[in-house]
Amino acid sequence: MTEQADHAADALAWLRPTVRDIPDYKGPKTASDVDLDKVRILHLNESPHPPSPKAIEAIQNFSENLNRYPDIYVRALSDALSDRTGIPPEQIVFGAGTDELVHFICEITTGPGDVAVMPWPTFPRYALTTRIEGGESIKVPLNDAGANDADALLAAINNRTRTVWCCTPNPPSGGMMDEAALRQLADGVPENVLLAVDEAYHEYGMHAGGADVLDAIKHRRGPWLVLRTFSKAYGLGAVRVGYALCGSVEVANALSKTKLQYNTNSLGQAAALAALEDDAYLQKTLDLMATERSRLAEGLSSLGLKPLPTAANFVSAELPCNAAEVMKALAERNILTRDWRDPGHPRHIRITVGLPDDTDAVLAAMTEILDEME
Ligand SMILES: Cc1ncc(COP(=O)(O)O)c(C=O)c1O
Repeated sequence: MTEQADHAADALAWLRPTVRDIPDYKGPKTASDVDLDKVRILHLNESPHPPSPKAIEAIQNFSENLNRYPDIYVRALSDALSDRTGIPPEQIVFGAGTDELVHFICEITTGPGDVAVMPWPTFPRYALTTRIEGGESIKVPLNDAGANDADALLAAINNRTRTVWCCTPNPPSGGMMDEAALRQLADGVPENVLLAVDEAYHEYGMHAGGADVLDAIKHRRGPWLVLRTFSKAYGLGAVRVGYALCGSVEVANALSKTKLQYNTNSLGQAAALAALEDDAYLQKTLDLMATERSRLAEGLSSLGLKPLPTAANFVSAELPCNAAEVMKALAERNILTRDWRDPGHPRHIRITVGLPDDTDAVLAAMTEILDEME
């Protein structure tokens, strides 16, 4: 090491090496960074629809007690979710989005020397927090349908494994696990390993005729949890409400010990409850999304691309050229999308399903770009 490098390493001696070694954070653009009249945000898998008017009303009416901390136990929403899922309220733990819950789950399970088994590519947070905690990620390729591969996930487990992650429907592919694969994981993951199923796209998966994940895994003898969110199908990404349906009080208690006390704010709790109770609105927006998703996938097919089967609110496709370049060319036309950022899939792009006008714009821009790149 040169003297200069020595000095730099010393100056960062206070920082855990696992954090020091991660490149500086640069988040994606969000609605706050762009002019929404000009730019189409199709890279974050947000709903293009506002939340239920009842959720907006719940936020507008919440003028009382803003000086008070929120309900730590999120009681009203837990009760409503318990009625729908059959999971007791004390086994439902909330986070500022499921993103935060993933962080807590890694924190309680996977320290130095421990292993987390996960599909790849997938939601990157599992691997990122595992790395921060000093654990090791074993990344298991998706199957040909773009879904998590139960056989391969099980085969990757070793005696240092503490968590098996699974995600269905899985971003960025959109593939779903069927009931048999879910049961296989529920039965096959050892009883001293946590099975964590990320169902951030649950409502879309069910609308597409997918398996009932809870039903398929709730007989599991070992520890498990299922993550869901109000950020996607309910259109409430701004207020940050995600939840973990835990298979036992032990799993819920372990999560509650590390979660931050007031992480789910009162406005989010009220809005989520109102949105949950407005089933008609949810169904309407799910139908609209499915119609638009078919139009986008069919449009991409007619351009000669092969869109992957998807049950979520995004469509991925393999391009005949580098996806990062196409993403850049789309961004120059004010359309934000996302390449897979995976060396194994340099030609894959993911596009969030938007409004009809967004689909038209994407297809027109893609036609031009693919022509230019030919
Ligand atoms: C699979 C998956 N899990 C979790 C999240 C995090 O969602 P949120 O923190 O908004 O609940 C996302 C967001 O894109 C996701 O795709």
